[in-house]
Amino acid sequence: MEKINRNDLCWCGSGKKYKSCHMALDEKIHHYELQGHIIPGRDILKTKEQIQGIKESSAINIAVLDAIEKIMRPGVSTGEIDELAHDLTVQMGGIPAPLNYEGFPKSVCTSINEVVCHGIPSRDIILKEGDIINVDASTIYKGYFSDSSRMYCIGEVSAEKKKLVQVTKECVEKGLAMVKPWNFLGDMAQAVNDHAKANGYSVVVDIGGHGIGLEFHEEPFVSYVTKAGTEMLMVPGMVFTIEPMVNMGTSEIYIDDDDGWTVYTEDGKPSAQWEITVAVTERGYEVLTW
Ligand code: MF3
Ligand code: CO
Repeated sequence: MEKINRNDLCWCGSGKKYKSCHMALDEKIHHYELQGHIIPGRDILKTKEQIQGIKESSAINIAVLDAIEKIMRPGVSTGEIDELAHDLTVQMGGIPAPLNYEGFPKSVCTSINEVVCHGIPSRDIILKEGDIINVDASTIYKGYFSDSSRMYCIGEVSAEKKKLVQVTKECVEKGLAMVKPWNFLGDMAQAVNDHAKANGYSVVVDIGGHGIGLEFHEEPFVSYVTKAGTEMLMVPGMVFTIEPMVNMGTSEIYIDDDDGWTVYTEDGKPSAQWEITVAVTERGYEVLTW
């Protein structure tokens, strides 16, 4: 990182002198770096204005998931869910981030039962009583990205599946409670993984969360199976997703050969996921999409 003198203008563009702006924070971060920890680069730390932009994007993101809740019932196709999400996002001035993202053909991901993530909506996939489905919506608004997903239970769902859905939500809450400056992403991950394991579940290893805000997927990759005290240092201004995929059985997964997207559990048992976009603040965290 380039050296700035204490009386120079701060690198953040505040117009203040470095010594009365980011100098103390930078020194603290540097101290962790000297101890061998992974630290966030300046490029991924968001300004207050940028976080405000991400919040406005998140408002659309949440409105979409709220609207979807109202149409969820047996007989509805995932294609209809996709169309609702698309139209509402556009009406509100946003762009659905998944649409055409690396060739993804639709505006949301719809992942039912043993589908772990990245299910492609279709008019031919019809929800039925007892299904659990994750709808993952991601939004671009004025260049700012937000990302969140929820589980929906269709009609009467078995106690076993209901528990998976509930525990997965709790995993996100346990992880969130660990989000504060000078903790590590591994502290969050371990809290997530411990809770899943305590309930006899497993957490997917190969797919995780990500930094977000100015791009859909930014640094860092966010794992939910790493250990406390490891991974990137949390610093105010970081924005990332907490989105563990929790499997009832094995953590092993595979990708559909035909569509190249849909991810399934290897053993065919159900999987659940909740996702939030969260900002690290001076004192702790702020959930942008809950
Ligand atoms: N929304 C997913 C995430 O949480 C990414 C989906 S990529 C897509 O990161 F192309 F499948 F939409
Ligand atoms: Co995400």
